[in-house]
Amino acid sequence: MNSLDHGSKNRLTGRSAALFPGTSLRDRLARAVCRAGVLPRKELFEAWEVARRVRRHARGGRVVDLAAGHGLLAWAMLVLDDTSPEALCVDVREPPSAAKLAAVLGEEWPRLRGRVRYVEARVEDVSLTAGDVVVSAHACGGLTDLVIDRAVAAGAVVAVLPCCQEQPLGELAGLDAWVAPGLAVDLERVARLRRAGYHVRAQTIPEDVTPKNRLLIARPIGG
Ligand SMILES: C[S@@+](CC[C@H](N)C(=O)[O-])C[C@H]1O[C@@H](n2cnc3c(N)ncnc32)[C@H](O)[C@@H]1O
Repeated sequence: MNSLDHGSKNRLTGRSAALFPGTSLRDRLARAVCRAGVLPRKELFEAWEVARRVRRHARGGRVVDLAAGHGLLAWAMLVLDDTSPEALCVDVREPPSAAKLAAVLGEEWPRLRGRVRYVEARVEDVSLTAGDVVVSAHACGGLTDLVIDRAVAAGAVVAVLPCCQEQPLGELAGLDAWVAPGLAVDLERVARLRRAGYHVRAQTIPEDVTPKNRLLIARPIGG
């Protein structure tokens, strides 16, 4: 397994299933993704590595996967914690193959069938509540900030794996001689969440999965 390129953009197909022979939940999920035949390997590992870290700190709740793409992160969150009643995937455009992925995962985990919904909507328009666990992987640029702002306004737990970065605009603007701009943006996000009364965990997922690997997990203090 160690020689497997976790960041490969090659699509997982039925033939790739042999790469995941184990009895672990991760290998079971991977084999199902292979059967669906629609996702690059990188997306499997990103979703898995994010979900397992988030689940250590955020159990239960409705999972809301914002800018969800194929929605695998939402599925992985439910596979790892059956106490969540449901997951909602939100994206302006549902990829045509998301339904195929959902069908295969629903066959593998019949108990999850009908518990993962997909809606085509903007992050701006989705309604969130304090009981939600909001997750978002690689929401481009300022979309990650919007995800954070929407979750904070609702008082929800939020976990983001930020994507491409813009220049920091707030307190850390102009410090790029000391701090890489992307890092400064993420540090500002941490500071903003703390000011909003959140406890923040700064983590990373393995760099061989993605170089955009900073993971921020935040929950309201006392929430
Ligand atoms: C880089 S992709 C990430 C997809 C997925 N989370 C992943 O990790 O593979 C960013 C996604 O954001 C979606 N998106 C862009 N603007 C959006 C908005 N305002 N509201 C909801 N989704 C949006 C795009 O359609 C795209 O699927």
